[in-house]
Amino acid sequence: SDLQVLQAQLDTLRQGQENILSSCSFTEQALDHGSETEVLLVKKQMSERLSELAGREFPERPHENAQVDYVVETEGVRKSILNLGVLLTTSAIAHKTVATGEGLRHAVVGQAASLTITTKDKDGELVRSGSACLRAEVAAPDGTATDHEVLDNKNGTYEVVYTPRHEGDHLLSIHLYGQPIRGSPFRVKAVKASDVPPSPDDVKRRVKSPSSGHIRQKAVRRPSSMYSSGKKKENPIEDELIFRVGTRGREKGEFTNLQGISTSSSGRIVVADSNNQCVQIFSNEGQFRLRFGVRGRSPGQLQRPTGVTVDLNGDIIIADYDNRWVSIFSPEGKFKTKIGAGRLMGPKGVAVDRNGHIIVVDNKACCVFIFQSNGKLVTKFGSRGTSERQFAGTLDGPHFVAVNNKNEIVVTDFHNHSVKVYSADGEFLFKFGSHGEGNGQFNAPTGVAVDSNGNIIVADWGNSRIQVFDSSGSFLSYINTTADPLYGPQGLALTSDGHVVVADSGNHCFKAYRYLQ
Ligand SMILES: *[C@@H]1O[C@H](CO)[C@@H](O)[C@H](O)[C@H]1NC(C)=O
Ligand SMILES: *[C@@H]1O[C@H](CO)[C@@H](O)[C@H](O)[C@H]1NC(C)=O
Ligand SMILES: *[C@@H]1O[C@H](CO)[C@@H](O)[C@H](O)[C@H]1NC(C)=O
Repeated sequence: SDLQVLQAQLDTLRQGQENILSSCSFTEQALDHGSETEVLLVKKQMSERLSELAGREFPERPHENAQVDYVVETEGVRKSILNLGVLLTTSAIAHKTVATGEGLRHAVVGQAASLTITTKDKDGELVRSGSACLRAEVAAPDGTATDHEVLDNKNGTYEVVYTPRHEGDHLLSIHLYGQPIRGSPFRVKAVKASDVPPSPDDVKRRVKSPSSGHIRQKAVRRPSSMYSSGKKKENPIEDELIFRVGTRGREKGEFTNLQGISTSSSGRIVVADSNNQCVQIFSNEGQFRLRFGVRGRSPGQLQRPTGVTVDLNGDIIIADYDNRWVSIFSPEGKFKTKIGAGRLMGPKGVAVDRNGHIIVVDNKACCVFIFQSNGKLVTKFGSRGTSERQFAGTLDGPHFVAVNNKNEIVVTDFHNHSVKVYSADGEFLFKFGSHGEGNGQFNAPTGVAVDSNGNIIVADWGNSRIQVFDSSGSFLSYINTTADPLYGPQGLALTSDGHVVVADSGNHCFKAYRYLQ
């Protein structure tokens, strides 16, 4: 009908207007907050995007009905072809199929725990239809079977819900057409309810029956005054944001261009507050705990802290871009030593592997250094260039690094718009991602973290979003950040209670999200 035609046209125009507005505000943000090289990068990208938008023709005059009828018809035919295709292929295969969710990490005796199974085809693409033969077994510590249910969401995902009756390690085996899915069997420790630290939000979520669905309120732009006190704010809206901490400023709990973020197994969140030349520490719940750092160019002082990580002893390891070395502080913030001086040109991302080696991304030199904890160089790899084994960029290069559950090194190649994975001694294994705005594409990736199942979470700086991939780099999902958008996210890490924290640099705050649930 006419109404539909005009509505579709209005949507196109609104979409165009939205693109223009978001391009303008993104450019403004980048000019306000970005480093010089970031501004240069944005300049090229934004001028391309803006001229593309300026050159685009918008439908100003009403469309004719005939055209729309035609469109509707092809749409219908295309859809039925698509459906036929799905019906004909039993494309889900076990070793590409993944399990995610809280129920893989925690379980509480007497409470329902749930996980989501996402079936995939041989190319790692999501399968969009249900009814696959999926079977789960949950063995209690004494070997007995535990009650569970498998729910078919009919869209290629399945929910497995189980209720442990005993404390201790449970073994979850999940089979698709008789074959174990990726990572199966999973070991999950069930604890007594009285041993669970009080976190009402967490408990409520864990026991939520899957049939109640994921009811979400409509997005409402939260007024910025909500965040003005610099203290932690709970998220009143049911999206994936749990809380946000900080505003622009120099006081405790305030930030100026924060960059790196890390977490410890003892429940701390550690932030490299770059332009305030300090490090700030918070609890997993976002409560301020500690700040340290004296500005300067001597050992023990900080000039431009960018990357941060916490080692197995709880020591805090800080990449200092302008001092061109990596400083190590005790958990209380007492300076211990520095490493990499004389070798590093511009350290940014930093991580610690299973052997206690310190992995440093040299953003300026376009390479990755691996040091022993005493500072002795183990090896380095990478150089400036666009081959698989190299990192792209003219003035700067790769940004952040994480270590996965196989002790492999995951690096964000900012200017190549990709994520590259290397063995523990620096041999190139594979890469994923390309330039763009689609699923699994990047516009300058920055922060990266890997969860205990090997899923890779990446901050997509230029697209201001967070994407989740499985361990082979297949796109899984986005973290829903729409209600309170990110501006140029940088470092990213996983808390010991399984949430994602991200340095939302352009907004001078950090945010905690739940993901894959
Ligand atoms: C599949 O369906 C479930 C339940 O309706 C929903 O929560 C989930 O987001 C859907 N997933 C995809 C990939 O469409
Ligand atoms: C993201 O969250 C908003 C609520 O803040 C919701 O309206 C929207 O539907 C969510 N998007 C997805 C893809 O779940
Ligand atoms: C990214 O890397 C690939 C090789 O891995 C190369 O072919 C491509 O040209 C690079 N693109 C950019 C923008 O650097």
